[in-house]
Amino acid sequence: MSEFEIKILTAKNWELYKSARLSSLRDSPDSFGSTYDQETTLSDAEWQSRLDLKFRDIDALPLVAELDGKPVGVAWGFIHKPDLRIAHIYQMWVSPELRGKGIAKSLLREIEAWAISRGCGLMALAVTTSNEAAVNLYRSFGFIAAGQLEELRIGSERMVQPMVMKLNSAAQHSNRSLRSLGRAKARALT
Ligand SMILES: CC(C)(COP(=O)(O)OP(=O)(O)OC[C@H]1O[C@@H](n2cnc3c(N)ncnc32)[C@H](O)[C@@H]1OP(=O)(O)O)[C@@H](O)C(=O)NCCC(=O)NCCS
Repeated sequence: MSEFEIKILTAKNWELYKSARLSSLRDSPDSFGSTYDQETTLSDAEWQSRLDLKFRDIDALPLVAELDGKPVGVAWGFIHKPDLRIAHIYQMWVSPELRGKGIAKSLLREIEAWAISRGCGLMALAVTTSNEAAVNLYRSFGFIAAGQLEELRIGSERMVQPMVMKLNSAAQHSNRSLRSLGRAKARALT
């Protein structure tokens, strides 16, 4: 297999992002709060503006994993005002045929490095309790359960578990995240 690359999405790449995100919602409807039906109605301008971080005045890291120029994974890091100490992780997805090759872990490492560089003390996410692969991914990365279970969506039988991971050590940054930056070389897509 060729080496996958992790890149930062910009508004110019909205079509690539749209294709990967809609694939993820179609492929894994129980993994996300949003649905394919909701997002497939978004206009091109809305897809584009999602990635226009300056226009939205947000601090976020939208990532795509690419293999041979095709999107095979997505994840976002997102810092919501006013709590600038927490980096949230959203939209984590890896294409089914490329799972088990460390792509999700690499996406997490990039977000971790970014969160530390932004001065965050915590990463946070929510994972569907029945999603064994994702629960294992986050546990093995260092996340722990925090807080009450919540409904995936209003009225859903599926529940999500909030999880957090502390980011408090410069040593952790240099030993782990910088190593991953060397490998994955996240950079802006043009
Ligand atoms: C969860 C998901 C993102 C994992 O992506 P991936 O690239 O296959 O994961 P990685 O190869 O980086 O695996 C990292 C770790 O996750 C865990 N893991 C991944 N897949 C697993 C599986 N099928 N069963 C059990 N554990 C699994 C393991 O601990 C693994 O570490 P190891 O390989 O050292 O054992 C992927 O299965 C996916 O996209 N699922 C559908 C969407 C989704 O559920 N997203 C999460 C939303 S919160």
